[in-house]
Parts: sequence; structure tokens; C-alpha cells
Amino acid sequence: MGSDVLFQVMRYDPRRDVEPYWAEYPVAVDDGDTVLMGLMRIREDIDGSLAFRASCRSGICGSDGMVINGRSRLACKTQVAAVVSDRGRVVLEPLRNLRYVKDLVVDQTPFWQKFRRVEPYLMPEEPRSAAERPMVLPQAEFDRLSKASDCIFCEICYSECPINGVDRGFLGPQALIKAFRFEFDPRDDGAAARYAPLSNVEGAWRCRTTFNCTDSCPKGIPITEGIQRLKRKLVGELLSGMQPAYRTPMPVESPEETSS
Ligand code: F3S
Ligand code: FES
Repeated sequence: MGSDVLFQVMRYDPRRDVEPYWAEYPVAVDDGDTVLMGLMRIREDIDGSLAFRASCRSGICGSDGMVINGRSRLACKTQVAAVVSDRGRVVLEPLRNLRYVKDLVVDQTPFWQKFRRVEPYLMPEEPRSAAERPMVLPQAEFDRLSKASDCIFCEICYSECPINGVDRGFLGPQALIKAFRFEFDPRDDGAAARYAPLSNVEGAWRCRTTFNCTDSCPKGIPITEGIQRLKRKLVGELLSGMQPAYRTPMPVESPEETSS
């Protein structure tokens, strides 16, 4: 049995609009319909100029993150019935902490730049024998790393993190949980390469353990726990003398300074 729901959407086209504004669309919604289905109905039947990203429609591609009734979520995994207000409204805004491009689409560039900064891949040195370095992880540890690998790059954690809102340089939860995934992998030897971006003032220490990222992750990744373990690892490396103390982003030394 369908019902009419009012979709209130923040719209903005930089070629035409001085600032964002609200547009309202009545949408006929059936039981089980998702917010993404409602948006598609608007674009197909009411206003073809509405911009939003979506692809898989099943929580896999991570394209359709947006703020739905005040909280960042995937539109394809959010049923209208679960979020519609008592007044019959669903309010949609673009993700936070990223520049608006058009309507519900944001500029992902800083997100991907920060992701690349933590060198998110295995960096093994020369192969070692099993005796030198056992490759078999305890099941619980494997499960943690495997969970961190479930990230779909939806930017929802980035949007919900209050530190990303006040410090544009902060790496953010997604880059940090990816660093965790590789730093704790026994096949990896990339700690020295990742130490500077992770330990400088825009790295892991900037996280204030608010748990917003963990609470909002659509894949249920325990992001905050991973970041806390990363911090403990960084302290261990510092105290053991494995790594130097950095206080500024990515220190650069001239040849004169290093030779004096
Ligand atoms: Fe941000 Fe998550 Fe830390 S929301 S403050 S990265 S716990
Ligand atoms: Fe792919 Fe929602 S459309 S995650």
C-alpha cells in the first residue's frame, strides 16, 4: 500500500545558483522502497536535472552516500519507512566536509588524496622464510583485518567525523582504517613509509575517539578500535627508537640542515 512522502532536497548548481536552496518533491512510495528509489523517481518523472551518484543499488559500490534526515547513510540501504519524519518528510543533503559540486554530489578529491597518503597496499621486503615470519594469523586477528577490508569508500565516516569538519588536513577515519589494515598485516613491511603521514599533526593523533565513524559505517567496521590500535603501535615504534618524533606535517630537511 503506497503513500506520498515529501522529499526535501538541497539543490545547488554553481553555474546558476548563488547558494544552495531547498526543493520539495512529493513522491509515491511503496513499502520497502529505498531513498534511492525515491530519488530515481524524482529524476525520471519530475526533474531530470537532479544530480546524485548511484550505481550498484545494493550497498556495494559506495556511490550514494548522502545526509538523510541529519545523518550520513547510503540511500540504497535506507528504507524510506525507516527515516520518514512524523510530518511525512525525508530531508536530503550532500555529504559533509567535502565541497559541493552539484545537488547531492560532492568533490571526492581530498578524500582520495588522503587515502593515497597512507600508502594503502602491502609493502613486503624480500620474501622471508616461514620461520622468520609466520604468515598465519590467529582467526580473531584475521577477522579484524578482513573486516577493515570491507570498506566501500562511501565517505560516510568522513562526513560524520567532527574533526574532518574543523581540520581539513586531518587524514580522516577511512584513510586511518586502511592504514590499520596494512600496518597489522604480517606480510607488510611498510611501517617506516607510513610513519610520517600517520604520526604527524594531521594523522592518527588528531582523532578524538568520538566513535561517529564506527556508528555510521554501513559495513559495520569497528573503525575507532582500529585507529586506537594504530596509535598504540605508533607509540611503540617511537618509544622503541624505531621511528623519530614528528611534530609538523611531512618534515622536509635541506641538505645543509642534515649535514650540520
Ligand atoms: Fe573522527 Fe572516528 Fe576519530 S569520527 S574523531 S576518526 S573516532
Ligand atoms: Fe552502490 Fe548504494 S548505489 S552502494
